[in-house]
Amino acid sequence: MEKTLFNNEIQNMKNYIMFEIKARQTELTPMLKAKNRAPIALSMGAPVDRIPEFAIAKTIEYMNNDSLHTYSTPKGEIKYLQAVSTYMKNRFNVEIDSKKEVVSLIGSKEGLSNLIRALVNPNDNIDEQDIILVPEPGYASYSQMVKIAKGRAYGIKLTKENNYQPNLDEILAKFIKEGNNPSKIKALIINYPNNPLGCTCEFSYLQHCVDFCNKHNILLISDNAYCEMYFDEKYKPHSALECTGAKDCCIEMYSFSKSYAMTGWRLGWACGNELAVTMLSRMKSTVDTGIFKVLQYVGADLLESKEGQDYIESQNIKFKNKIEKFVSGLNSLGYDVQMPKTTFYLWMEIPARYKDCEEFAADLLEISGIVIVPGTAFDKEAKRFVRLSVVASEENLEEVINRMEKDGFSFQ
Ligand SMILES: Cc1ncc(COP(=O)(O)O)c(C=O)c1O
Repeated sequence: MEKTLFNNEIQNMKNYIMFEIKARQTELTPMLKAKNRAPIALSMGAPVDRIPEFAIAKTIEYMNNDSLHTYSTPKGEIKYLQAVSTYMKNRFNVEIDSKKEVVSLIGSKEGLSNLIRALVNPNDNIDEQDIILVPEPGYASYSQMVKIAKGRAYGIKLTKENNYQPNLDEILAKFIKEGNNPSKIKALIINYPNNPLGCTCEFSYLQHCVDFCNKHNILLISDNAYCEMYFDEKYKPHSALECTGAKDCCIEMYSFSKSYAMTGWRLGWACGNELAVTMLSRMKSTVDTGIFKVLQYVGADLLESKEGQDYIESQNIKFKNKIEKFVSGLNSLGYDVQMPKTTFYLWMEIPARYKDCEEFAADLLEISGIVIVPGTAFDKEAKRFVRLSVVASEENLEEVINRMEKDGFSFQ
């Protein structure tokens, strides 16, 4: 038999869906431009706005500091870790020990992936694999990360009926009834505010998750990448670390990517349960050497400054206005979408005449140059849904509605 060099999971895995879509967009760009349909991307969750001016000025200042150009550590600079601790206290009233309970991340994607590798004992035998409970629909990377680690992702359905907050005792009962071994469950990932649904959860639900994880000795991984993206004080997101008993079981992931439009900076952190932070730091000490110190210093200043806070507030107002307009444009074309409570994502049902979401997304791209993501990227059963990331400029969003109308993409 011929020898294969690379491991089965990687050999059989496609590129991450967002990059596959991007490659298709690039391939079609000349043809789309020629027919006046230059691509408008509503695919990746990447705001196109200018980052805070304050961050640019601070970057220039710190770039001139010679001591900030050497290796950092995977754990992070003291200034950064302390700023995180101050932010967690001011924003959520959560005490975080900057020495023991926080670690810097090269974006939350890196943190999630390394944490999962630190949790799962790799095993090729499906029946014996460690299990991570993941939301479905959910961020496309979760289940892939578990696969790479040679564990098994078990999807927890978020539905309208369960108000996107499934009862975990019922999930566990179902899981056992299906013949699964509950002692194999290593972690539960939750994501409120949620990608791709745009929903959030009540504080009492976070407490339910913490209680469940403490009861069953499961690590709660709360992905809070969108905690600053909300449009109504009533739905201002919480930290799971505010819950009673949270430090016993919960680690939470944060990111600068969305709220500061700094996706390219690759800056985030994880904080909470000391053992989880220690294990993640240990894992990282082998596979990375930390984040450029200048970026950490600027990040720290953003977290502690009025300028940083003002930027988030003005972005939320901007997003609210443009998403509302866009939603009303889609409604006028017959689509049943509403203003999301949090995030810039719309989860939209496709017209009945399309076979599935992949056909709809492909037509929308090839005919109109509008780039969206099929729902199956987030849940293989979500065949009748697509995700629209409302990150384009207002002008481009208007153009999307015009093209959809002209090119025959109304709902009916
Ligand atoms: C739910 C969720 N978590 C994590 C990430 C990763 O963000 P980053 O690595 O830029 O911090 C994303 C990005 O889209 C996301 O949607």
